Amino acid sequence: MKILVILGSDRKGNTYKIVEAIKNNVKKIDSRIEFEFLHLNDLNIDFCKGCYLCFDKGEEFCPNKDDLKILYDKIDSSDGLIIASPIYALSLSANLKNVFDRFAYVIHRPRFFNKSSLCVVTTFASPNMKNTLELIKANLWLWGFNVTGKIGITGGTDKSFKEDDFPDKKTLKKIRKLSISFFKDLKMKKFQKPSFMGMMKFELVRNLMKNEKTADSEYFEKKGWSNPKVKYYYDVRINVFKRIVVKIIVFLAKKFMKIK
Ligand SMILES: Cc1cc2nc3c(=O)[nH]c(=O)nc-3n(C[C@H](O)[C@H](O)[C@H](O)COP(=O)(O)O)c2cc1C
Repeated sequence: MKILVILGSDRKGNTYKIVEAIKNNVKKIDSRIEFEFLHLNDLNIDFCKGCYLCFDKGEEFCPNKDDLKILYDKIDSSDGLIIASPIYALSLSANLKNVFDRFAYVIHRPRFFNKSSLCVVTTFASPNMKNTLELIKANLWLWGFNVTGKIGITGGTDKSFKEDDFPDKKTLKKIRKLSISFFKDLKMKKFQKPSFMGMMKFELVRNLMKNEKTADSEYFEKKGWSNPKVKYYYDVRINVFKRIVVKIIVFLAKKFMKIK
């Protein structure tokens, strides 16, 4: 089994150390699990040009000729993913935000359904740590990943946490718990739960796709998601009541938005 670690920080600093502690815990359970650490700054990834070609024609039409495909292939060939970022100026590192922008087409055309993931953030004191963790979680979830959990650590300085007080006992306990859950999810190839929001997204987007001829609609067609009999992105039992409520809301939303 292989885990890819995407690091927003260029240093082997606080964020790296948290992920390394996760790695050590997971490896204690199964030493055969491989970890690849990837500092985003080691890749050449340009900014999105906002041309919409990835949505409309396909990601292969992106005008940027850079290392994004290398990153995509690494994610695709891994069983699990850890995204880890320091807080810079109240939010995630810019290189990571750039990756989220560039992979916006994956939000439209989700995949990675049987892969699990973790979100890690370190900061000196930012009140935005929670939001930043949520932002990473939301992107992973929208890409299709099962998000096992998230961990945010405050108190990190430029000198890194000192060896004797980092990770402290409380953090270590959290890391251990998270690592065990992550391992379990990886082992069973856990799928994300079809939440109410997930079902809304699926139902609404597939309705919008009906009137389109784009890479997005072709993807839905290819996956069989355009078929009204298909309940969700993957075969899963869904509460009938939940399904009816979603259908009604989407029906009303379509009327409101004047969509056929
Ligand atoms: C450019 C820069 C901006 C930062 N901005 C914030 C901030 O807004 N709030 C905060 O609490 N910490 C901030 N920090 C501190 C880092 O979030 C913190 O030290 C983090 O643990 C560094 O992670 P690293 O050791 O993995 O690089 C900033 C650090 C840098 C280098």
